[in-house]
Amino acid sequence: MEIKKVFVMGAGTMGSAIAEIISKFNLEVLLGDLTDDIAQKAMRNIEHHLQRKVEKGKMKSEEKDTLLSRIKIAHNITEASQADFVIEAIIEDIKSKKKVFATLDKLCPPEIILATNTSTLSITDIATVTRNPERVVGIHFFNPVSRMELVEIARGKKTSQETVVTTKKFAERLGKTPVDVNDTPGFIVNRLLIPMINEAIFALSEGVANKESIDLAMKLGAAHPMGPLVLADLIGLDVCLYIMETLEKNFGDPKYRPCPLLQKMVEERKLGRKTGEGFYSYRK
Ligand SMILES: NC(=O)c1ccc[n+]([C@@H]2O[C@H](COP(=O)([O-])OP(=O)(O)OC[C@H]3O[C@@H](n4cnc5c(N)ncnc54)[C@H](O)[C@@H]3O)[C@@H](O)[C@H]2O)c1
Repeated sequence: MEIKKVFVMGAGTMGSAIAEIISKFNLEVLLGDLTDDIAQKAMRNIEHHLQRKVEKGKMKSEEKDTLLSRIKIAHNITEASQADFVIEAIIEDIKSKKKVFATLDKLCPPEIILATNTSTLSITDIATVTRNPERVVGIHFFNPVSRMELVEIARGKKTSQETVVTTKKFAERLGKTPVDVNDTPGFIVNRLLIPMINEAIFALSEGVANKESIDLAMKLGAAHPMGPLVLADLIGLDVCLYIMETLEKNFGDPKYRPCPLLQKMVEERKLGRKTGEGFYSYRK
């Protein structure tokens, strides 16, 4: 079946960016959230983002209008029944996700894929509330969606091969490179990246080197585009801590113990760029 219309549930950071990228590839998008006000705010953010591209000469004004005309607000989740592919990008909360998936499963014909953008939750667990778990799959985009090429395609225990293949093709259609991954905590990128950041924070707190040296060492010695502490500030220290806690809880392995300095900084709301202060200061 040809995918023409995509329903995106959740119009926050990821949902709105996913809707925007889908619109670039000649697909219709229905974008829903808890209220119309939230979805409208997301539409304004998308418009603002596209307008910036126009101002920088990266996009024509007519193209911006065309993309915006392809994205419509879904006033109710029932509109998911019109879609050929569904992406859920609501908050990272298992109860909320299960509720949404149970509803989507009732609304959408069994051949329609229900994909989740979850970073840490189990695809298999989310799929337990559906009658057709074979069509439930992880489609993990990275932030910022417009720039990050990777999409992890996470296969739950009951996800069918057909679902995986169609979802990979869909990701490729959006100009992304999909990688297959089994349904394990943190998938590939967060499982490797966040413990590395956590270890950098241990190194800092143990006085191995100062923050500038740690970042410079990983840039020049490991060819990373930015150092781990700068990256932690960009991701958000609360997000890093949440992922470490999830890895520790799900694997039950002390090697994923969050660094006490990371916990302390989150308690102090030093979350990185978003609060103006993390390992570095972003106050103007
Ligand atoms: N932010 C990231 O860097 C990132 C990267 C990859 C994946 N993710 C994953 O993407 C998902 C969304 O993350 P985000 O950063 O966009 O969060 P966000 O907080 O920016 O947005 C979540 C949106 O979901 C809405 N929402 C909450 N409950 C809902 C419900 N029951 N029905 C419909 N909408 C509901 C909220 O109103 C909000 O607009 C999460 O699963 C997260 O783990 C996030």
